[in-house]
Amino acid sequence: MAENINEKPNGQLRVGDNSLELPRVPASCGEDGVHIGAMRTATGVVALDPGFNSTASCNSKITFIDGDKGILRYRGYPIEQLAERSSFLEVCYLLIHGELPTAKELKAFSERIHENRLLHEDFKSFFTAFPAHGHPMSVLQGGIVGMSTYYEYSTKNVLDPQQQEEQAILLLAKVPTMIAYTAKRAAGLPLLYPDASRSYTEDFLRMTFGLPYQSYDIDPEIVHALDMLFILHADHEQNCSTSTVRMVGSAQANMYASVASGVGALSGPLHGGANEAVLDMLNMMRDTGMTVKEFVNKVKNKEDGVKLMGFGHRVYKNYDPRAAIVRDTAHTVLKRLGASEVSEMLDMAMELEEVALKDEYFVKRRLYPNVDFYTGLIYTAMGFKTKMFTPLFALGRLPGWIAQYIEMLNDPATKIGRPRQVYDGEVLRDYIPVRERGKN
Ligand code: SDX
Repeated sequence: MAENINEKPNGQLRVGDNSLELPRVPASCGEDGVHIGAMRTATGVVALDPGFNSTASCNSKITFIDGDKGILRYRGYPIEQLAERSSFLEVCYLLIHGELPTAKELKAFSERIHENRLLHEDFKSFFTAFPAHGHPMSVLQGGIVGMSTYYEYSTKNVLDPQQQEEQAILLLAKVPTMIAYTAKRAAGLPLLYPDASRSYTEDFLRMTFGLPYQSYDIDPEIVHALDMLFILHADHEQNCSTSTVRMVGSAQANMYASVASGVGALSGPLHGGANEAVLDMLNMMRDTGMTVKEFVNKVKNKEDGVKLMGFGHRVYKNYDPRAAIVRDTAHTVLKRLGASEVSEMLDMAMELEEVALKDEYFVKRRLYPNVDFYTGLIYTAMGFKTKMFTPLFALGRLPGWIAQYIEMLNDPATKIGRPRQVYDGEVLRDYIPVRERGKN
């Protein structure tokens, strides 16, 4: 528990002849904050913190991470317990509403989602007009922002809790359908309508891999493994994509526009795109015959900016607790699916991890496997193409984006996000007509 706040002093800031007391903002766990809102007025300078390594953007009650101890908790519940005992829809409810649902609440929540998984037929025509070879994250981003038009009724008042809930339900319901349709179109296969008799994750797999002329049966262990992977991705404090959702939402843009911006951020290879980049890295090593040692040396020499994708994290300076769970799940899934080729890739990934964790370059920089290091191997074994990996991350992260957007809008301290800058460009100069600017 936090010590008595009175025993913990406020911050003190001195800039030249100006000084300022920075009121302490107590945390229930993790680092306290100091409020620097008055800093510019009192001292005439602004704080500069590219990447926000030491800067909090908000108070939040949703997710807590301790990067040194490898701790991750959603609304106070340890990720290990939720991964083992909960379900993705239950975790969606927990993140959005703040409490685990009663059986009745979970049934009502799940039914509302199940009833809304169809896409409006005109929306389906629009959504399936994207090029079949287009990157699924670009298609998904376009589809989600398009929801603002087909489901405009739910965006009339972004501050209305009922409209927030409606937007949340429609996103949780329709995003899996959109992702399944994207995978099917890339494969040139027919689209399937949702089947209400199946669970959320099972029916997502059926719409992705099932065919209209044959029944679709899937190992419940595989369904459980994917549902658990969605739980592991569900939220992660103020990461790049979540901060993007909050920033766009702070202008009171609707949830679809804000979440679509988060999809854009997640698509970057330094963020959610890393799971795809890990498979590309392993495939390159296998196809070129490059040894683990040779690759690690390229990374250490920083050749062409090569990084060990799936390694490192801004917050975790210890093993990402999610990566440990995913690695164990990988063994289970690969055994169930008998995916021998993927097993070879898993062995290579584990050798890569073993070599890196012993190497001074990685040890000194506290670089460990993160959530993206092993997930792609499981997705590959399940039959997903590499380009579908980051949309799977986006589906998992959907409840986190939704919960953080709603928390931001309902926080009385929220103001439109508008950072300052330190300008270091040309101070002042007069316009020169083009005829006087020299011949070259
Ligand atoms: C996710 O924030 C979140 O919570 C994100 C996420 C979530 O759930 O939302 O956890 C999901 O995005 C996980 C991260 C996935 N990305 C990758 O796996 C891409 C590879 N990793 C890196 O690019 C990097 O580690 C970051 C982007 C994840 C973190 O970068 P930081 O914190 O800005 O650290 P840095 O780039 O300043 O690196 C510090 C040093 C540098 O070397 P030096 O300049 O000190 O010599 O470590 C090196 C970096 O070059 N380094 C790496 C490396 N990651 C950092 N060197 C080789 N391989 C890597 N992966």
